[in-house]
Amino acid sequence: MLNFDLHIPTRILFGRDTHKEIGTLLQPHAKKVLLHFGGTSIKKSGLYDAVTASLKESDLEFVELGGVVPNPRVSLVREGIALCRKEGVDLILAVGGGSVIDSAKAIAMGVCCEGDVWELYEQQKPITKALPVATILTIPAAGSESSNGTVVTNEEKQMKLGYGSVHLRPLLSVMNPELFFTLPKNQIANGVADMMSHIFERYFTNTVHTDLTDGLCETTLRTIMKNAVRVFSDVRDYDAWCQVGFGGTIAHNDLLGLGREQDWACHGMEHELSAIYDVAHGAGLAVLTPAWMQYVYKTNANMFVQFAVNVMGVEGSYRDPDAIVMEGIARLRGFYKKMGLPSTLSELGIDESKLEVMAKKATGETYGAEQPLGNLKKLYWQDVLEIYKLAK
Ligand code: NZQ
Ligand code: ZN
Repeated sequence: MLNFDLHIPTRILFGRDTHKEIGTLLQPHAKKVLLHFGGTSIKKSGLYDAVTASLKESDLEFVELGGVVPNPRVSLVREGIALCRKEGVDLILAVGGGSVIDSAKAIAMGVCCEGDVWELYEQQKPITKALPVATILTIPAAGSESSNGTVVTNEEKQMKLGYGSVHLRPLLSVMNPELFFTLPKNQIANGVADMMSHIFERYFTNTVHTDLTDGLCETTLRTIMKNAVRVFSDVRDYDAWCQVGFGGTIAHNDLLGLGREQDWACHGMEHELSAIYDVAHGAGLAVLTPAWMQYVYKTNANMFVQFAVNVMGVEGSYRDPDAIVMEGIARLRGFYKKMGLPSTLSELGIDESKLEVMAKKATGETYGAEQPLGNLKKLYWQDVLEIYKLAK
């Protein structure tokens, strides 16, 4: 196990009706709030009315900025920064999913920095402060409600980049699983694929003596998969949503990655799909993950046997380790299929024309500074291209 530094400061208020307390929760921390949200879902569900009523009851001033789209755009972030400066906003409340929360985090750090916010993503310059961000989560998926990261798309440059800092962990996050009842099936599935990937990126490691976090990863994966099937067939299954919802937070607050060398190749490869083709992040991951597993598993076959047996329930009667691993991957593909997720790039509308461009961008080869993706097995652009081809 490797050394680690654990600091997860986000307060999480969980359960029925908790979103109605948002005004009281924010009162000690803010005078003027930016209420940040996406498209129409929060207005249709009545959440917008409930949140604004709660802010008013607590005498909190607020200004609004809606319009965040999936794969959130830096252009709206810039608008948000200008608005916060003009209005003297001192806290950002993100009501939505990963895209809204990531956009809020980008605004929060952009307000406190000189220069263009995109430079932070491109140059990975460390920040020393950001406005506090609070969230009301409406889709369990990205884990941004307690993560230190933000991922934003620069539409002009066709680039999607992440940025992480301790200053970006939200101050507090509210999770009422009843808010997930309005999710369409494709969004449920995308979210589940994303949270599972956040665990895979940590689980598949060459670090040894990681029994505790191995077990936590396996339990969280099994819990999410079991309950995802339940919410998929009954979107109002509150108890199952509790497991999936909190599972998504645990999957990405880094508890499961402590003391382990983490991988993150699948995320690096997926961001290229989202940047160029604007596909949903979770759907892209569902396509790439089995192909990645197939390509890299021999580097540490024991880890993949452990996954197949402990998570996918492959029995020991398959004596050949390769057969066990392949059965585990086949079962994972079967799970994604059951959730209605795509299994090939062509199902995502991606043909072969840009595979090499994406492989070179993902590894930095395009910019003359190649950095292999992943840690379990280092992937150069030629490896990434092979994985894209396996997934086509
Ligand atoms: O815009 P509205 O109308 O609200 O609709 C949204 C959106 O179209 C809809 N939705 C959300 N809650 C709903 C709902 N529809 C009905 N009922 C509800 N309760 O769902 C759609 C997708 O929303 P989005 O926020 O894009 O989804 P998600 O949470 O999956 O976020 C994906 C983004 O998070 C980033 C991804 O790259 C992607 O851009 N990630 C952020 C991470 C982080 N900050 O730590 C880590 C992840 O790896 C991920 O990369
Ligand atoms: Zn993700």
